[in-house]
Amino acid sequence: MQETAASGVDGSLLVGAGVHKSFGALSVLDGVNFTLAANEAVGIVGPNGAGKTTLLNVLAGAYRPTTGAVYFEGADVTTLDAAQRCRIGIARSHQIPRPFGGMTVFENCFVAATTGGGLAGQRAYQCCVDSLKLCQMLHVANRRAETLGLLDRKRLELARALATGPRVLLLDEIGGGLTDEEANNLVETIQVLRGRGLAIVWIEHIVHVLIRVVERLVCMDAGRIIADGKPEVVIADAAVIDAYIGGRGAS
Ligand SMILES: Nc1ncnc2c1ncn2[C@@H]1O[C@H](COP(=O)(O)OP(=O)(O)OP(=O)(O)O)[C@@H](O)[C@H]1O
Ligand SMILES: [Mg+2]
Repeated sequence: MQETAASGVDGSLLVGAGVHKSFGALSVLDGVNFTLAANEAVGIVGPNGAGKTTLLNVLAGAYRPTTGAVYFEGADVTTLDAAQRCRIGIARSHQIPRPFGGMTVFENCFVAATTGGGLAGQRAYQCCVDSLKLCQMLHVANRRAETLGLLDRKRLELARALATGPRVLLLDEIGGGLTDEEANNLVETIQVLRGRGLAIVWIEHIVHVLIRVVERLVCMDAGRIIADGKPEVVIADAAVIDAYIGGRGAS
């Protein structure tokens, strides 16, 4: 990591500064400025195709921005890949779960703790047990991941991310398809994580669940942030209603 004058970029823990991302001629992120403070929970909403997952990929190191930069704890991490960012404390879950199907749930977590988080031995083992317990997956620890249903696959995404020992969790639609009871469970789990000092970025379409957890909401549309602020203010914003909640983005 390279220390830069941007350390002070406002004292934020994670920053995407002036991020543009294009795939060939398709511009997907168009000058996004995103900040996350230490121990803050921020929700990201927006219509399908707005660029939410792409922003997460840029923050997590899966994609290099076309222009712009990413800072973590004040250091420029733009050139670090996803594995390197994981080692310094940036973990993510995938919108479409990606377990190692032939491995058990526990083995999936162990790979995350050791390869992703750089832990070893008893520490790695204990971290996996804690993560699986928190995600209510200890009872399926010895099941092959390919036999899990969607909900447990999503929980495993979260458990794997936690097993790396992160400071920041980037969550991409882990709540999709949940019942009310399951959503309540998820909210409780995320609250526990926040209590442990984790900062969270959570992309989710279930807005009423999201706003029970996050203190700030960001709405994206067509590769830009169109609103950023207190959840109750953002969901009442005319541009947000038009683009997402009650207008052309509503499904
Ligand atoms: N690797 C890629 N190559 C080409 N185009 C891509 C790539 N990844 C994303 N896109 C395009 O970028 C746009 C934004 O996609 P993205 O997945 O970031 O949207 P999203 O806001 O997460 O949508 P959703 O709510 O449906 O998950 C879409 O038009 C998508 O097709
Ligand atoms: Mg997405």
